[in-house]
Amino acid sequence: MRSTAETLAAPALEVRRLTASYSSRPVLWDVDATFPMGALSAIVGPNGAGKSTLLKAALGLIATDAGQALIQGRPVKTSRDRVAYVPQRDAVDWDFPITVREVVEMGRYAQIGWVRRVQRSDQTLVADCLERVGMAAYASRQIGQLSGGQRQRVFIARALAQQAQVMVMDEPFAGVDARTEADILGLLQELRNEGRAVIVVHHDLGTVRAAFDWVLLLNVRAIAAGPVADVLTPETLRRAYGAAGGLETEEQEPRWAA
Ligand SMILES: Nc1ncnc2c1ncn2[C@@H]1O[C@H](COP(=O)(O)OP(=O)(O)OP(=O)(O)O)[C@@H](O)[C@H]1O
Ligand SMILES: [Mg+2]
Repeated sequence: MRSTAETLAAPALEVRRLTASYSSRPVLWDVDATFPMGALSAIVGPNGAGKSTLLKAALGLIATDAGQALIQGRPVKTSRDRVAYVPQRDAVDWDFPITVREVVEMGRYAQIGWVRRVQRSDQTLVADCLERVGMAAYASRQIGQLSGGQRQRVFIARALAQQAQVMVMDEPFAGVDARTEADILGLLQELRNEGRAVIVVHHDLGTVRAAFDWVLLLNVRAIAAGPVADVLTPETLRRAYGAAGGLETEEQEPRWAA
């Protein structure tokens, strides 16, 4: 057993020499990366760079060819309940007949087990989590009838209900308006301030510079990783995005996002 102090000192997520491929074509090559606790971290890189694959491979959701991933210093297999994962939007079946409350209750299953009934204390926690993300009024709504920003809030509530120390979100701001993005970002910063790790795949380098602490620049390989100001340089951006990366200026930020 590790002591609490050791667990706290360990990074939220560490991948070592991770290689993954689809049909024997490598899409991640020998990736080393560390994401600290108490930080809002971004994973950035062009479309197809392997960002979503990195998350899935690190969380043990797809097979890898080589390497390993540790959550707070422990193998992922024994740490699933410490991580809340929100996949990229198109990976979720929004027609699945389930209410907002039920989605958030699912966050409790890791704690209570699938066979036990949801207790009153769980229900209170679920209600509190919905309140915190401003979705209490939507508890009985089917998830198919929510806007993109509301869905992200519900998933954050589920992660809160799970009481996960590490939150991993794949493009939570895709298709979300600027106001909602700012609100959700504020929530993620609160979670960071409480000591959690929040790791987000994001395309907008301006937001990453303004609001994030830590960044991994990825394009099949890990191009650079560390504090935002150290990592996002014209040179590393050129290596990640190709020639266009070198054109970046303060006034005219290139639009990488689809
Ligand atoms: N299930 C799959 N089967 C085969 N190839 C895949 C599969 N999923 C992803 N790929 C390929 O692997 C590469 C990396 O994909 P991935 O989804 O990880 O990229 P990404 O960085 O998340 O891109 P985006 O910014 O578009 O979300 C791409 O070339 C993609 O076409
Ligand atoms: Mg992706």
